[in-house]
Amino acid sequence: MRKLIAGMKISVDGKIEVPERGADWVEAWSEDYGLTPQIDACLLGGGMYTGYEQYWTGIQNDPDKPAWITGNAPTRAELEWARFIEQTPHYVLSNTLTSALWPKTSFVRGLEEIAALKQQPGKDIYLIGGARTTASLIDAGLVDELRLIVYPLIAGDGKALFATTEHRHRLELRKVQQLEDGRASLIYGITNGA
Ligand SMILES: NC(=O)c1ccc[n+]([C@@H]2O[C@H](COP(=O)([O-])OP(=O)(O)OC[C@H]3O[C@@H](n4cnc5c(N)ncnc54)[C@H](OP(=O)(O)O)[C@@H]3O)[C@@H](O)[C@H]2O)c1
Repeated sequence: MRKLIAGMKISVDGKIEVPERGADWVEAWSEDYGLTPQIDACLLGGGMYTGYEQYWTGIQNDPDKPAWITGNAPTRAELEWARFIEQTPHYVLSNTLTSALWPKTSFVRGLEEIAALKQQPGKDIYLIGGARTTASLIDAGLVDELRLIVYPLIAGDGKALFATTEHRHRLELRKVQQLEDGRASLIYGITNGA
């Protein structure tokens, strides 16, 4: 069965964004979890899809211009991801969205459809976010692995990645790596035992 693997960039206190400033400690939104070679589909929540589409369409159309959100010129890894996702099916979990700019985007209306997607033949699926979708799919036992990049920052008041998680989940630490700029990469298996 294909694995569903979540990747999230968080502060040390587990925040993904703060009021007014968003996640201004994240300098680039590239896929930095080492997932690209092993995936052939992406899944994301309706709450983040519109902004995601806008961010990456901007980089695809104007690769030399500063990217929206970061205000920085796209990094090499962002340019690679922008190219990769042009070819890659995206599935959006939403009961309200009905249209997307990208031809390879389709909508899933419930968790059963995600379970069915995992049963289809193919490579693994990258769960891009956002927070509520990640928490909900972990609670539903659908996420096999969690990859975190932890930034060296206590963000304070803000949106927590696991704010809406309802159940306890044991994790199995699989890999720890020190990255540039004081960041840490953590890979956990989710065993779904409490
Ligand atoms: N730090 C990071 O690495 C990272 C990565 C990705 C995103 N983010 C941030 O995450 C934020 C978006 O997260 P979010 O929590 O607001 O929204 P989200 O998880 O992207 O989307 C939530 C939406 O998904 C749909 N949905 C349908 N069934 C669901 C279910 N069972 N569980 C959860 N959602 C379901 C609903 O949309 P409908 O109402 O349309 O049905 C719901 O409003 C953005 O601010 C983005 O910047 C951060």
